[in-house]
Amino acid sequence: MSLKEKNRKILVTSALPYANSPLHLGHIMESVQTDIWVRFQKINGHECTYVCADDAHGTPIMLKAEELKITPEELISQIHKDHKESLENFNIDHANFHTTHSEENKELSELIFRRLEEKNLIESRVIKQLYDKEKDMFLSDRYIKGTCPKCKADDQYGDNCEVCSGTYDATELLKPISVLSESVPEVKDSEHLFFKLSELKDSINNWIDSSFVQPQVVNKLSEWLDGELRDWDISRDKPYFGFSIPGHENKYFYVWLDAPIGYLASHKNYLDKIGDTKTFEECWKPDSDYEIYHFIGKDIMYFHTLFFPAMLKHSDFKTPDGVFVHGFLTLNGEKMSKSRGTFILAKTYLDNLDPEYLRYYFATKLGPGVDDVDLNLEDFKQRVNSDLVGKFINIGSRSAKFINKDFNNALASQLHNPELVKEFITIASSIKVLYEARDFNKAMREIMSLADKANQYVDKMQPWVLSKTNPKDEVIQQICTTSLNLFRILAIMLKPVTPELANKIAAFFNDHAYTWNSIDEPLLEQNINQFKPLLGRIDDQSIEQLIKPEK
Ligand code: 2FM
Ligand code: ZN
Repeated sequence: MSLKEKNRKILVTSALPYANSPLHLGHIMESVQTDIWVRFQKINGHECTYVCADDAHGTPIMLKAEELKITPEELISQIHKDHKESLENFNIDHANFHTTHSEENKELSELIFRRLEEKNLIESRVIKQLYDKEKDMFLSDRYIKGTCPKCKADDQYGDNCEVCSGTYDATELLKPISVLSESVPEVKDSEHLFFKLSELKDSINNWIDSSFVQPQVVNKLSEWLDGELRDWDISRDKPYFGFSIPGHENKYFYVWLDAPIGYLASHKNYLDKIGDTKTFEECWKPDSDYEIYHFIGKDIMYFHTLFFPAMLKHSDFKTPDGVFVHGFLTLNGEKMSKSRGTFILAKTYLDNLDPEYLRYYFATKLGPGVDDVDLNLEDFKQRVNSDLVGKFINIGSRSAKFINKDFNNALASQLHNPELVKEFITIASSIKVLYEARDFNKAMREIMSLADKANQYVDKMQPWVLSKTNPKDEVIQQICTTSLNLFRILAIMLKPVTPELANKIAAFFNDHAYTWNSIDEPLLEQNINQFKPLLGRIDDQSIEQLIKPEK
């Protein structure tokens, strides 16, 4: 292992959820994926900081607050509390969960913008946009509907047609209507600021290499880079909920400018809170030895692989070392939909089931690729019941009872089958490689096949048969000490996924908090505690509650 591997300094983020609605299981899947990786790094002794925040700006948030007759500030603060609570309850180990509507984010957004301006990378241009006179505002594409100029399909949004997949400019839409007031919008000139991405193609090509993204994303990225890179409109007119642009009256930063800068802002806010005045600069300077990774969904790749790194690069900040893209979450094979009642909120899940069940299930489904992940509720129930309860927990419960009952709670001083324990320890290093590569589904498969092995060992040794003739036979103690050690190793291997369970198991063993290296040292002659049921089976009723239509 190289020195660098021994002593990695890592900053990790997941995408910032919009502060206008509660979190659903799609958000949770991404947070769990990130959290598993972060926890894995931490128990391997690396410095790994996971920051996130609410994405608090933009028109939808402004309009939602208007609808609720509260200020946007009130809305985002209520939602922030709600998001934070759900994430904490899913055991997401954020160092900080901040908001983009913060002083740090304002300063950093202004700084980055100023640096880009100084490098002549910001240009002002007058564009034509649809304007809603009744609402007194320019309309973004999602607030305009009309007839597709290409195939003439009705009821299409302002940027693309769902019928013919054509893309166009909102001003080309036939018979446009404002979704907000249902009035006919007029075309009006407006001055906008653009980030000159089109000029940066060569420089982007120079620093992006294929290790930056997964192979499936490399193709997408080269497609974009082979084509024409369009300059990026980074300003919005008032009324807008966001930061005003210094030196440009009545103009606001487009939400997608300050959202990813929110990663830096959350990191800065965290470091300020803990009184660390050095790390921010060290981490974000171009030649930093920190590793920076963003976990995101496939719908926001363009922003994270092009605009944002280009902005960072040209404002003298470090660019990310990797952008890890995942697919969408589907429910029982279909897109989650509010109207069909297949949109499970994080809170609904938490009201009914233990978060560790879902953390485990997501781990069994998540790989390093960008494929969609299906939450099939029947499969979820069966997998958790059979793997976690039936296989894993079973090893502990069937072995502990003899130690508790006949050996005064003491583990033996030697193992009955040291080779088997050794085999588990050896396989741990390949499981480590799988975790590092975010190949969680393979890691879970390996762990469960070890659980099968441990159960087969107990089946073969039949301590219950030996116990009938001679309950205090030390061979029984050694057999159960072996299987409990296998159980303990599996608990440590699962710790990034089911941290609560691992902590409970450590407490049962009167053991220290587990790190990955705890796997290497078998536990002998230890006084353990009474084994209590650690995890129950999922029942049909709890599953039904998840998809009950909202009242
Ligand atoms: O797509 C979204 O939900 C955005 N709120 C994600 C922002 S991620 C980052 F760039 F801030
Ligand atoms: Zn069309």
